[in-house]
Amino acid sequence: MHQKIISQNLTANTLSEVSTPFANCARLPLANLPTPVESLVQFSKSLGGPEIFIKRDDLTGLATGGNKTRKLEFIIGDALAKGADTVITAGAPQSNHCRQTAAAAARAGLECHLVFGGSSESPMIGNRFLDQLLGAKEHWTPKGTREAKMAALETELTGQGRKPYVIPVGGSNSVGALGYVAAMYELQLQIEQFALRFDHLIFATSSGGSQAGLTVGSKLTNFEGKITAISIDQTPDNESPFKYKEFVLDIARGVSANLSLGLDLSLNDFPINYDFLGQGYGVVGDPEKEAISMLARTEGVLVDPVYAGRALAGLIRLVRQNEFKSTDRVLFWHTGGETALHAYVDVLI
Ligand SMILES: Cc1ncc(COP(=O)(O)O)c(C=O)c1O
Repeated sequence: MHQKIISQNLTANTLSEVSTPFANCARLPLANLPTPVESLVQFSKSLGGPEIFIKRDDLTGLATGGNKTRKLEFIIGDALAKGADTVITAGAPQSNHCRQTAAAAARAGLECHLVFGGSSESPMIGNRFLDQLLGAKEHWTPKGTREAKMAALETELTGQGRKPYVIPVGGSNSVGALGYVAAMYELQLQIEQFALRFDHLIFATSSGGSQAGLTVGSKLTNFEGKITAISIDQTPDNESPFKYKEFVLDIARGVSANLSLGLDLSLNDFPINYDFLGQGYGVVGDPEKEAISMLARTEGVLVDPVYAGRALAGLIRLVRQNEFKSTDRVLFWHTGGETALHAYVDVLI
């Protein structure tokens, strides 16, 4: 049986007719929206579990696609509204966020500076290679010093007469999270238009902005499913000096405050599964390899090894552990990143 494309034709006009709390926020249209929701018929069948669907944010566009396109609509909108002529951000050398920021900056006519933690010996492939094509300038700093390097760069560029705008790692703040508040409105329209129902929503979380936005958006749209973020690198708050869940809660509270939503948010609103950390960030193991090849071979859809691939591996294990009822409908939110696949050829085949 062929994969059924459930919804592709909802137009952006449909969404703009809805009165939304973010309607007056600065926003630069960058994304191809709405992204399709598709039924993974063959993938679900090969797993023998519940019906699994996919929200194709790998198709958002902007030097391929991914979850950062949605965040960058609001971030670059804000930067332009504030008169910036330059953006600075940071990430790992294979950062999808850096690649998409470089593309958004090019589209908006802004200079783009990327701060990478680690060594410039890192191979010039995958996202790092695309950053070069997109015209971004690289800066290197020892791991753990990216924020300080961004601050120093901001001072230096300001001294040169430029107007830099600093974007946090992953675009995860109360501005970027608006992209995923808006995404929940988009999903809600698709649910209504196509009479869908989702009992579960599963996605990868790492710098927190997507989770904060999806959670706020789920409250505003009365989404009925259970939301579970699969951590691809963050550890529980009681095991780490960095309190990730509190960080995500802070972003969500910032969104609520900025939009005067008055939401009563607590840590309980942010369920995170930490069971799929594998051997660490960016280390590809058998679960990721299986997830990548299973989705590719049953549905012709690619996921990256670091984020969506790890979250999908988590979803596969949850199905095998009978965490879902056979009648459940599970939505996997594909957050993109497959451009990084090229940097993992050696371990993937
Ligand atoms: C492909 C991909 N998926 C998921 C995430 C995680 O999203 P967030 O950083 O908003 O938690 C990232 C973050 O960089 C990503 O690149």
